[in-house]
Amino acid sequence: MSGPIENPAGELRIRCLSDLHGRKEYLDPHGADILVVAGDIAPLRRLDTWAKRAQCEWMAEDFRSIVAAHPGCEFVFTPGNHDFWGLEPAMNPNSSFWPKNAHLLLDSGCCVRGMTFWGSPIVPFIGSSRRWAFECGDSVQRRVFSGMPDGLDFLVTHTPPALPGSDIDCEGVLIGSGRPLHFGSAPLAEAIAEKKPRRAVCGHIHSGSHEPVMFCKTLCLNVSVLDAAYRPAWKPREFFQDSLLYDNHQICYNIRRGDGQDEPFGRVP
Ligand SMILES: [Fe+2]
Repeated sequence: MSGPIENPAGELRIRCLSDLHGRKEYLDPHGADILVVAGDIAPLRRLDTWAKRAQCEWMAEDFRSIVAAHPGCEFVFTPGNHDFWGLEPAMNPNSSFWPKNAHLLLDSGCCVRGMTFWGSPIVPFIGSSRRWAFECGDSVQRRVFSGMPDGLDFLVTHTPPALPGSDIDCEGVLIGSGRPLHFGSAPLAEAIAEKKPRRAVCGHIHSGSHEPVMFCKTLCLNVSVLDAAYRPAWKPREFFQDSLLYDNHQICYNIRRGDGQDEPFGRVP
């Protein structure tokens, strides 16, 4: 790995990732001013009430201690469909449970270091099982996503949007038909087109395309870090405050180099 990212203008550095699934090393900000996590934060070992209790303990001990150990970094995060802890009322965004530099987004927003964020954990139903956290249908998605403010600096959702011609939300192919399987949210895409956030980061679909996609005036990016087998596969993505221009995203390809690697969008060797 090469050296730190050049930042001669001293711009805010925003590090984005999702789907760490309890791998605490990903919560190290590596000197970033803001760490954004787009869901699936805690480990999940079982799907029952025990899982929620164990996750709450993990958030209380592991997550909070990491946040407290990095007081110079603001942690902005939303849960994902694996994060049953996010359903616990005592862990609401205004709760004293959270350290001052922790900003939980639950269909809500915050302004940190002059940057505006809004985030949501909700995802479309996955198959017919109805067993995951924050699953909901189109009408609820439409209502929730239409609540985001106009012109955000960062939209943070666990689900990817369903974007025309994009595989940002694609998880393999349907066996027998060869048809790609897309799991993105159409209501989220509608809301992005209307509200025009500068950047929209998401996760959820580990094997979705990690290439940036320009949609209307928004740069959309899948920032999940593990592959479909939950092995490390992608590096967190880093942005500077103003250099990521939505109308000239080629510049960001040249400037944004992840952890200083020459291939910012490549897989971890
Ligand atoms: Fe995940």
